[in-house]
Amino acid sequence: MTAVIDARGLTRIYGSGESQVAALAGFDLTVEPGEFVAVMGASGSGKSTAMNILGCLDVPDDGTYLLDGKNVGRMGARQLARVRGRTIGFVFQSFNLVSRMSALRNVELPMLYAGVSRREARRRATAALDMVGLSHRATHRPSELSGGQQQRVAVARSLVNTPTLLLADEPTGNLDSASAEQVLEVLEAINRAGRTIVLITHDHDVASHAGRIAHMRDGRIVAVDTRVPAAAGAAVASGGTA
Ligand SMILES: Nc1ncnc2c1ncn2[C@@H]1O[C@H](COP(=O)(O)OP(=O)(O)OP(=O)(O)O)[C@@H](O)[C@H]1O
Ligand SMILES: [Mg+2]
Repeated sequence: MTAVIDARGLTRIYGSGESQVAALAGFDLTVEPGEFVAVMGASGSGKSTAMNILGCLDVPDDGTYLLDGKNVGRMGARQLARVRGRTIGFVFQSFNLVSRMSALRNVELPMLYAGVSRREARRRATAALDMVGLSHRATHRPSELSGGQQQRVAVARSLVNTPTLLLADEPTGNLDSASAEQVLEVLEAINRAGRTIVLITHDHDVASHAGRIAHMRDGRIVAVDTRVPAAAGAAVASGGTA
């Protein structure tokens, strides 16, 4: 089985001379198909830098990155953009929806860019909104939706081109805890349906929704928890299975 993410020894250095910052310094991460992994770390530990490289928005200065078996660390901008579009769905802290479009049209948009027919785009967008529990808000514009609903629209949008990997950077950073919980439950359901997810956060409660937590410090992963006591406790307390 080919790993979705196979990153070894990634480095990324910003600036030059005395102001150099090694934002990544020997970052290693392997993510297998179907996993839900959280990358956790304090502010400045390199999470967003790692996300940008894992998401093919940036390339490392050194190390190797195989995305779904393809060596993307050596690709040029155009090729990288093509791989990114086909392989990765993004969810950001700010929902990045188009304000003058309805929820349904926002979700259709990436498919229209990818050349999917209008009819098929409508069908898939409707199903995606249903999956995030927002069928009843399809015609609403972002300003008519709560923050949590907007983020669920963004999650639906990230999935419609069936990406190999869903990358979410602080997806609940702008949400109250109840809305955050709903978004995380949607991510868990999507993962149970087979989608590979990497979630980046500084918040342990958010990370505890993942099956594995990789802890970052000073640009590298320093520890990995495979079972999270808090999540197991919560699951037991609510009668679920750990
Ligand atoms: N464009 C840049 N130029 C110079 N230094 C940068 C740049 N971007 C990030 N850095 C530095 O690289 C390090 C890692 O930054 P990064 O944004 O990846 O951290 P982060 O873990 O995402 O933090 P946060 O939780 O605050 O978002 C920090 O020391 C930061 O100051
Ligand atoms: Mg960041």
